[in-house]
Amino acid sequence: MIKRLSGAIAVLAALSAIGGLAAIFSGGPAAQDARAAAVKSEPAPAEPKTGTVWTAPDQEAAKKRAQEVVPFVDAVMEECQLCRQMRLREAGLGIKDITNSYFLLDSSIIKKSEDLYGPVRFKHTKHAGELKDCALCHHRRPLDAKAKETTRCSACHQEPFRVNQPERIGLKAAYHQQCTGCHQEMKKGPTDCLGCHRKNVPDHKELVNLPEKPEPIQVTKECLRCHKAVGDDMLKTAHWLWKGPSPYTLNRSKHVNHGKATTSINNF
Ligand code: HEC
Ligand code: HEC
Ligand code: HEC
Ligand code: HEC
Ligand code: HEC
Repeated sequence: MIKRLSGAIAVLAALSAIGGLAAIFSGGPAAQDARAAAVKSEPAPAEPKTGTVWTAPDQEAAKKRAQEVVPFVDAVMEECQLCRQMRLREAGLGIKDITNSYFLLDSSIIKKSEDLYGPVRFKHTKHAGELKDCALCHHRRPLDAKAKETTRCSACHQEPFRVNQPERIGLKAAYHQQCTGCHQEMKKGPTDCLGCHRKNVPDHKELVNLPEKPEPIQVTKECLRCHKAVGDDMLKTAHWLWKGPSPYTLNRSKHVNHGKATTSINNF
């Protein structure tokens, strides 16, 4: 009985909803009221907080960690590569021992002399899972028995050309040789600079200068103030020039007029 009653109520509710919708779409005299009612019944969206930029907390932790400088490790355990790989495997070192599933590599040791790019993102667990051998990257350990097997690269590789450890390449070279070297060898993973690096793009909040409610043309003009070369390049692309006979466009093989220079509204 209760079921049937609630069913009837649902049908009624649906009917009245349809009625309301019909009134909205019919545009009759009741339409205005129905529209107002429909708007009222929706919960008001939460006011966005202005002036605050949301950032992921783990991203912040990764950034902080990236910039830490750890004490330099002088004495390194002597061990052949294969011995180390076997020893770590026997010790059962594996994914469970991973503390950070991803890293931002943004060392202040390197940034002191060069700062062309933003942090390099490195998916640690994904790499470890794919490669199944911690020792491929964690190739050496400190002599100190209390130190971790997976001591950070930056404990042993810091500035290049150390007087007392000439064999110890600098941190940037250590990353470049190990990361890019493996990608080249395995023919997997990026080997081009922009595959790992993003340009250090300055915060545009401070660069862009626009009125409260800008016109589209004003925005384009403002960007072109600094990005003139990009604007000039655009004028040479099909986005701009797509006009005239086009053998590639289905049903339009005789003529098209679709470039921004022709039919588009924002054809600055
Ligand atoms: C493809 C290379 C690579 C592989 C494979 C890899 N790691 Fe790492 N690991 C790194 C890099 C790079 C860092 C960051 C080092 C730094 O910050 O100086 C790191 C850092 C760590 C850290 C944090 C060290 C610290 O003191 O904060 C731990 C723990 C770790 N790895 C464990 C492992 C384990 C366990 C495995 C195997 C299951 C593994 N890693 C496999 C590259 C790798
Ligand atoms: C405990 C110290 C120590 C740690 C930690 C360490 N290295 Fe090394 N690394 C060395 C030493 C010493 C050498 C000199 C060559 C050798 O003896 O293997 C070296 C050499 C290298 C080389 C030169 C090529 C080679 O294998 O000989 C690369 C590349 C390299 N390390 C990358 C890394 C990266 C990347 C990490 C972190 C994932 C790391 N290293 C962690 C000590 C360390
Ligand atoms: C021993 C081999 C090896 C080393 C060392 C290595 N990689 Fe990779 N990397 C791979 C492989 C294999 C893939 C492809 C994984 C896939 O796409 O399935 C990859 C993929 C990537 C990718 C693209 C896909 C993704 O998951 O982000 C990036 C970026 C990357 N690696 C960065 C790095 C950086 C930075 C380092 C050094 C800290 C590094 N790699 C060290 C083997 C390696
Ligand atoms: C496989 C990933 C990878 C590739 C490919 C790669 N790099 Fe890097 N690069 C790194 C890592 C990791 C660092 C160290 C980041 C840190 O800790 O600051 C680095 C650091 C640098 C730095 C110093 C830091 C900075 O922001 O200025 C420069 C410059 C640089 N790389 C240039 C290049 C150039 C040029 C190429 C292409 C020829 C290239 N890299 C290719 C991973 C890569
Ligand atoms: C006051 C100068 C200035 C203004 C205005 C400006 N930019 Fe930039 N922009 C820069 C600089 C400097 C860079 C970093 C160097 C580069 O990549 O050219 C950059 C980089 C960029 C990048 C990254 C390019 C890349 O290759 O990774 C994008 C995307 C971008 N700007 C978009 C815009 C847009 C969209 C506007 C207009 C709303 C705008 N910019 C206005 C100065 C400016």
